Amino acid sequence: MTAATATKAPPLAYQVMAKCSTTKARVGNLVLPHSHVDTPVFMPVGTQGTLKGILPDQLLTLNCQILLGNTYHLGLRPGTEVLKKVGGLHKFMGWPRNILTDSGGFQMVSLLDLAEITEEGVKFRSPYDESNECMLTPEHSIQIQNVIGADIIMQLDDVVKTTTTGPRVEEAMHRTIRWIDRCLEANERDHDQNIFPIVQGGLNPELRKQCVAELTKRAVRGFAVGGLSGGESKDDFWKTVHVCTDLLPDDKPRYLMGVGFAEDLVVCVALGIDMFDCVFPTRTARFGCALLHSGQINLKNKQFEKDFRPIDEDCTCSTCTTYTRAYLHNIATVESVSSSLISIHNVAYQLRLMREMREAIHKNCFPDYVRGFFKTLYPGEL
Ligand code: GUN
Ligand code: ZN
Repeated sequence: MTAATATKAPPLAYQVMAKCSTTKARVGNLVLPHSHVDTPVFMPVGTQGTLKGILPDQLLTLNCQILLGNTYHLGLRPGTEVLKKVGGLHKFMGWPRNILTDSGGFQMVSLLDLAEITEEGVKFRSPYDESNECMLTPEHSIQIQNVIGADIIMQLDDVVKTTTTGPRVEEAMHRTIRWIDRCLEANERDHDQNIFPIVQGGLNPELRKQCVAELTKRAVRGFAVGGLSGGESKDDFWKTVHVCTDLLPDDKPRYLMGVGFAEDLVVCVALGIDMFDCVFPTRTARFGCALLHSGQINLKNKQFEKDFRPIDEDCTCSTCTTYTRAYLHNIATVESVSSSLISIHNVAYQLRLMREMREAIHKNCFPDYVRGFFKTLYPGEL
């Protein structure tokens, strides 16, 4: 085959390496343009092109393989002009591995309440200038994501709060399906940027099933499940994930958006989810909170004043191998330094939890791992 006729490798290859024989958990090898990713994976969130308190070098030391950026924030600052000039976000922030960008609409709707959805797109007031209205269309979101250059890019979706019921949930689901087609059409870099569609449909299993049935007709390389972890009951949350993973194809990665509490990661890996993201580990670190298998501890509490153990004896992160709880307690008022040290530990914790689950699935002892995990977290309750 000559160079001219050779077909280029697709920008995503996914292979299931091991499957749990009891649950739907699986270990996969996901190959993306910048590097491979071992799944199930937790992706730390760096909204503005930086993970708050952690440098790219430190993320490499933690063996982080993929991180998250946000189209809406990056489109405002530094903006597409700067990103175009520098050649994309990987170069701009000095990160050699993979990036996934969210499409932008969700943040406006769910977090800031500044948006209004129309068939054309998400219309929002600028948070900086009340009078200034912008329209983020599916095409515009993809154009910005093409400039950012992330390895996985998300469709613009119509998201409703999980507690919403009635015809608005169905409307959002159908609009999300119409918008995936506009996004796929607009993608100018299908050769090196993978668009994932997003399953919507609230807590209604029939709507979720319909949405999966439609989205799986499209030529896409992976799927996301959205619209969850917004205040619904755990029972509703898990049932909805279960319905989606039962119907999504086994040979493509599945990404559950915005989920990052340890218990939820463990349960949703058992339900067949491969990818997760959440601001929780880094956000909670900024409040002095460190994550442990036995639960969270707040290092600002006086009880740690003379506690000369590391945050976690079993953690190999640079914070745990260098500093004591007493020291972190002592510097808790110097917030930039302490939140950075705790963020490093918390990201290390999430990555270790995922690694332990992958190892357990490989050894076919994942159910034992889950039992042990919950016994450590809730001793005496099982
Ligand atoms: N982040 C968390 N949930 C969602 C969702 O439903 N859609 C998008 N685009 N991002 C999310
Ligand atoms: Zn640590």
